[in-house]
Amino acid sequence: MFGGYEKNVSKQKDFWIEFFANRRDGGHRSSSEEFISMEAKEKLFHLDGGKTLLDFGCGAGELLIYYAPGYEKLVGVDFSASMLDEASKRVRERKCGNVSLIQADDKTVWDKLESSFDRITAAGVLQYLTLKEIDSFVFNASNYLNNGGKIVLFDILDPRLYPLWKIGLFSEDADIWKILRKIGFELKVILSASLNNRPKDILGFAHNPGTIKKVANKYGFETIFVQSMYYEYKYHAIISRISEAKPQ
Ligand SMILES: C[S@@+](CC[C@H](N)C(=O)[O-])C[C@H]1O[C@@H](n2cnc3c(N)ncnc32)[C@H](O)[C@@H]1O
Repeated sequence: MFGGYEKNVSKQKDFWIEFFANRRDGGHRSSSEEFISMEAKEKLFHLDGGKTLLDFGCGAGELLIYYAPGYEKLVGVDFSASMLDEASKRVRERKCGNVSLIQADDKTVWDKLESSFDRITAAGVLQYLTLKEIDSFVFNASNYLNNGGKIVLFDILDPRLYPLWKIGLFSEDADIWKILRKIGFELKVILSASLNNRPKDILGFAHNPGTIKKVANKYGFETIFVQSMYYEYKYHAIISRISEAKPQ
């Protein structure tokens, strides 16, 4: 009964591997240094310290190089060789001697790590993982998290807001005809993706905060949700051990 499901999941995974095979940037709203540095500042605020950091799905290292000065040791992980190639150039240019890079995915990464971390983070990555994969990710991350550590998952697609953004409702020049045209276009994309068994959206899967909270809870974590500052349709999940999150 689950054979078909597993096959679909692995086909979708192959889709994302192929999708990122030649990409060289993380698809931020703007790739200007000014914008990325502002995004990084917001993220550093939520990371809230720690000395060691694992950046899962680090992509081209656009955020990682801004995290680097604040940490003693950082590890960037990504399954895309082209992304890691860019990351490695950035790390060299910025002389971030405290950063190492590993090519791995959400399953293989854990065996390649040599130590645990104060912060385990991922920015704009959860939409490429199924709920089952997120569950395994949180479980594995919990085994590589130091006492008092946090798992900070940035920019998760919010299924309540993302469809509204997709049809242009948040755009400054939104009007009813533009919105109807976009709805028609999106329906065509969804239909074609379903027929071809591809992910229905290039940005992958949106995950409800309630589901993320349940997964975190299952492994003894408490979650705080924060609206993303630069993406109206995304949110962050800050996950820490239940006992540590309670005020003394
Ligand atoms: C949208 S980009 C974000 C990159 C980076 N975090 C940033 O904010 O600039 C998503 C990254 O996650 C990586 N990725 C997606 N799924 C992954 C997986 N299962 N294992 C490892 N990397 C993955 C992609 O290769 C890509 O570099």
